[in-house]
Amino acid sequence: MTNAITKAEINGGAVRVIFDDGRETAYHFLWLRDNCPRGLHPQTRERVFDLLSVGDDVAPIRIAADANALSVWWDGEDAPSVFSAEWLRANAYDGQSLSERRILPTLWGAKDLPAPPRFSFAAVKNGAALPWLLALRDYGLTIIDEAPPRTDAVREAAHLIAPLRRTNFGEEFEVRSKPDPNNVAYTALDLQAHTDLPNREMPPGVQFLHCLANGATGGESVFADGFRIAAEMRETDAAAFALLCDTPLPFRFHDGECDLRFYAPTIALDRHGDFFQIRHHLALTAPLDIDFAKTPAVYRALRAFAALARDSRFALDLRLAPGEIAVFNNRRILHGRRAFDPSSGARHLQGCYVDWDETLSRIRVLERGE
Ligand SMILES: [Fe+2]
Repeated sequence: MTNAITKAEINGGAVRVIFDDGRETAYHFLWLRDNCPRGLHPQTRERVFDLLSVGDDVAPIRIAADANALSVWWDGEDAPSVFSAEWLRANAYDGQSLSERRILPTLWGAKDLPAPPRFSFAAVKNGAALPWLLALRDYGLTIIDEAPPRTDAVREAAHLIAPLRRTNFGEEFEVRSKPDPNNVAYTALDLQAHTDLPNREMPPGVQFLHCLANGATGGESVFADGFRIAAEMRETDAAAFALLCDTPLPFRFHDGECDLRFYAPTIALDRHGDFFQIRHHLALTAPLDIDFAKTPAVYRALRAFAALARDSRFALDLRLAPGEIAVFNNRRILHGRRAFDPSSGARHLQGCYVDWDETLSRIRVLERGE
């Protein structure tokens, strides 16, 4: 249901609009001129209006409104800018409207999410991808089960979102113990909770891990909500939280082929102060070369974060079974693995990545069809 306009008036350099539910909001003159629908290309819907073609003091000579639309006339222009009430409401930028449009993640600890949301491979392939993607957006962790035991199944699932994000590990990567590993993941060692590829300018947004075999002793997967851990830290240790938000740490991965480095803070917030992304990987944290005087405090904060990631309140143990694909937000969910005994049986996961903006895009496109 859309909200109708009950009143519109010029007020202090802006057009003030009141909707029938009582919401009052205002739109600056230049903002309205910049967003005039006539300034959009009819097919691409991209803006063709030149922002510099008007002065920054552009102002309407007249406005008129009815329930469904606001019309604004500009000096020297024959046709008015006509904005639908629906569009104005959807794009209102007062604090309350912005806050209503925020989609906040559902933070979880191990007790809150004993079993991650689960969807069958056949269902997500056959038109029911939206519930899965919404769960992925909100919880950051989902399981697709009953996947066929094929090495292209993980790619098929990922393609429901977008083409694979290729990295220095290729398009798909095989997680099993290898004789000449270039990564701790490719050993049988304990793998502490981490986010993948923090050493990249933009770490992959979504990780898929398809369990093809898990017959070895040990090798349980561990997942923890990095946003929940950050929230805990913000509550209980505000100084450490601030340091992890404000201190870019050096991350590095290097092997025979590459030497990829990037500085970024452990916790990144968005423009509203909500959690945006986590980068945490002790194995890929390069020797700290931050401000000398800050180094002990940063170590203390980093250790506190790492300790929370191992805390049973937050770390969810999950033994992946063949046919299960763990799909998670790699910029939020920490993942790890208990050590396993490679002589006791086969353990083989196949992984790949897609990007997070592609995931949100897929959700929006699927929602159009609702
Ligand atoms: Fe990993």
